[in-house]
Amino acid sequence: MAEHLGTLVRTHTCGALRGEDVGKDVVLLGWVHRIRDLGGVTFLDIRDRAGVSQAVVRENDALMTIAKRLRSEFVVGISGVVQRRSPDTVNAKLATGEIEVLVREIRLLNEAKTPPFQIADDGPVSEDVRLKYRYLDLRRPRLQHNIGLRHRVSIAIRKYFDENGFWEIETPILAKSTPEGARDFLVPSRVHPGEFYALPQSPQIFKQLLMIAGTDRYFQIVRCFRDEDQRADRQLEFTQVDVEVSFAQPETIYGLIEPLMPKIFKAIGAEVTLPIRRISYADAIARYGSDKPDLRCGMEIHDLSDVFRDSEFRVFKQIVADGGAVRGFAVKAGNDYSRSRLDAIVDQAKALGFTGLIWVRPGEPPLSSVKALGEAVLRPALDRVGASKGDLLLMAAGPADHTSKLLGQLRLQIAQKENLLNPEQFEFLWVTDFPLLEYSAEDNRWYSMHHPFTSPHDEDWDKLESQPGEVRAKAYDLVLNGSEIGGGSIRIHDADLQARIFSRLGITEEDAKLRFGFFLEALEYGTPPHGGIALGLDRIVAILAGESSIREVIAFPKTASAVDLMATAPSTVDAKQLRELHIRIQT
Ligand code: AMO
Repeated sequence: MAEHLGTLVRTHTCGALRGEDVGKDVVLLGWVHRIRDLGGVTFLDIRDRAGVSQAVVRENDALMTIAKRLRSEFVVGISGVVQRRSPDTVNAKLATGEIEVLVREIRLLNEAKTPPFQIADDGPVSEDVRLKYRYLDLRRPRLQHNIGLRHRVSIAIRKYFDENGFWEIETPILAKSTPEGARDFLVPSRVHPGEFYALPQSPQIFKQLLMIAGTDRYFQIVRCFRDEDQRADRQLEFTQVDVEVSFAQPETIYGLIEPLMPKIFKAIGAEVTLPIRRISYADAIARYGSDKPDLRCGMEIHDLSDVFRDSEFRVFKQIVADGGAVRGFAVKAGNDYSRSRLDAIVDQAKALGFTGLIWVRPGEPPLSSVKALGEAVLRPALDRVGASKGDLLLMAAGPADHTSKLLGQLRLQIAQKENLLNPEQFEFLWVTDFPLLEYSAEDNRWYSMHHPFTSPHDEDWDKLESQPGEVRAKAYDLVLNGSEIGGGSIRIHDADLQARIFSRLGITEEDAKLRFGFFLEALEYGTPPHGGIALGLDRIVAILAGESSIREVIAFPKTASAVDLMATAPSTVDAKQLRELHIRIQT
């Protein structure tokens, strides 16, 4: 039976008591973490968010009787006096390990069923069980740490933007379907039959309207909704640190976001070296085969086409003559790989879609998987990729970008397998000058690579109709350890150019008017040049916490199949509710 809290008022958290508190009368409130009954003495570890304290019940029959009823996860309040532990029982691993509380009173505030998994240790538990009982999972030290870390990061971000003259402004959650509409979550209107709100994929249009409104500097820690396939770094609802600034150039945004990073990383005591390096999208693809390169492992991809252009090796020579490229990279310490390891890498490459992968061991003479390759090409190739004696060269040929992308994937797989990606190393990178548009052969049309409000480079405007694939955007991503932690751009502030982009995207004038008429009109009322960025808060906190999935830093996430296992959402609703919303289900 549960007792009342009554006059019991917490004096300290369970993580607060130290040697200097010896002799104090204290009250602790929390959960029974562990309990050890040693006959005449019972030790109770009491836990709250702040930590664990040991309480001891000694030679007191009334208290012993209560203590005997206690089980793990019961909620208790104790009062007692702090005393020093005997030297042999001091627990150096525990912040409160020098002391214990000699109990004078125990109140059993609530009982608990036996939890489906141990709260007190961090042992492996299936994710489904953890998510079903998320409120218990959240009691465990790892998630307590992650959620606390997330809080501290959010506070640091708010403080930073406040100090820099930004206003945090809330934008609507019930909004209008946007150009990327295919992945919108729709909310039926009860009072307007057949009409829908859309949950925002991001507050993009609203933040631009705020610039038109003269807000000048806006930020918001905001929930966004996207009905996309779930991955370790994607949730249906996730949190952005959304930012917009008037009269901004890309430099303005870099200059604002870079000093924020050390403030965020301070939460884990890590240093960030500024300025953050920059690489163009085209270079990122060529040199790392990715628009979000992980720079922790080196192994840059180099172009070897000129080495093979006039070589005897006909396969590569032909590919280069046909406009393709030969590319390769040096695997650090790869010369030590056994023959079977090399065969495994070649198989791995085949699985990735390589038509051929050649390895070369430096040496006197160099040794290659293709016998026909002589020193005349191998030596310059090894030099070009910067392979030292202990390294291994991997190379392939084909269409330039495609070859780099395949090598980029192989590079990452090898780096993961060989533990070359140190989780305590933080390599930031700006990827700049993304293409404005990308072509979908399937849909036979151009799509915005970022979003349709992104400004093209000033000098590329006239290629919009003639060479749309060549137009570069004033768009940038912030990349950390191979993860895209932010993306943004300078926007179009000119109504005519915005209309031109919509038309390039195949959105008819009529359709544009219907869907964004209000926005096109707003652009005509004195829109300042502006730009911004949105950072992925979940991804940043996951990296800080050393977690491989953002689910570990979100209090109540959905599963990989987009389900809330605890509350069982999504779920059916009753017929009356559907009728009110004017919805008929077709199966
Ligand atoms: P973008 O779509 O690039 O840009 O999103 C910005 C950042 O949000 C994070 N992110 C996600 N995190 C978790 N789950 C998801 N499903 C998910 N999708 C995106 C990423 C990404 O870099 N309005 C623009 C920003 C702008 O132009 O200012 C936008 O939303 O870290």
